[in-house]
Amino acid sequence: MNTTANRRLPIGVFDSGVGGLTVLKALREALPGEDLIYLGDTARLPYGTKSPASISRYASQATRLLQQRDIKLLVVACNTASAVALDVLREQMQPLPVIGVVEPGASAAVAARPAGRHLVLATEATVRLGAYRRAIELLDPAARVNELACEMLVSLAEEGWHDGAIAEAIVARYVDELGAVAEAADSVILGCTHFPLLRAPIAAAFADSVSVVDSASTTATVAHDLLDSLDLAADRGHPGSVRLLATDGAGRFARVGGWFLGADLAANDVELVDL
Ligand code: DGL
Repeated sequence: MNTTANRRLPIGVFDSGVGGLTVLKALREALPGEDLIYLGDTARLPYGTKSPASISRYASQATRLLQQRDIKLLVVACNTASAVALDVLREQMQPLPVIGVVEPGASAAVAARPAGRHLVLATEATVRLGAYRRAIELLDPAARVNELACEMLVSLAEEGWHDGAIAEAIVARYVDELGAVAEAADSVILGCTHFPLLRAPIAAAFADSVSVVDSASTTATVAHDLLDSLDLAADRGHPGSVRLLATDGAGRFARVGGWFLGADLAANDVELVDL
């Protein structure tokens, strides 16, 4: 596997939409020499309210498209797909490696607050499966974990209402449901790729001492270390590239995706594909 030709293959990254661009950004920073192909399944967003069977099918179809583009590593930059379908995707990608975002997010939280009380904000599907709870408890049996589904925050992020009174009021509406659990939290885990954009209103709903953690940079570190250990990292000096694919709405992908990527995008930066 670890031939020069394989080291030159791209890394495939997918999400249900544009949220995973926060992970793409971190990958780009950690691995500037790698070619990255990002697929946003915008035609079928959101995944978070769908059944596990549909989420698995969608994730598997997205993976198949990236496999056809000859990737050397798959990064599942979607918490929901990572929670529901990681085992299925690992099977499908064999012998190539697959990284999800739940385990890196869990390890970032445990590193920030050992034996801490963690509050996970995520989609309905991620919460229903208790994916973060299991990942955290495996790493740190002394940790305590609560999880809260916050679907409305996905729409807020997509709408560009990332801060201000409306965003703060909606976050507060969710957090108030938890009462004492929220007040006791040591860490808040942004367990959905959309939520890093709402970091400010989310942080404002908790005490200053609370650590707000997301999985993007930890996932990029895991990818970096994995490529090194498998001798699959691109050659030094190779200028990495980014290719963006979406299943619907190139214009909207570019407009909303630019917020997530922290860079201006145009519709013709995005190739439309069918799964
Ligand atoms: N990308 C999804 C996640 O990280 C959020 C959006 C969706 O529900 O599809 O869970």
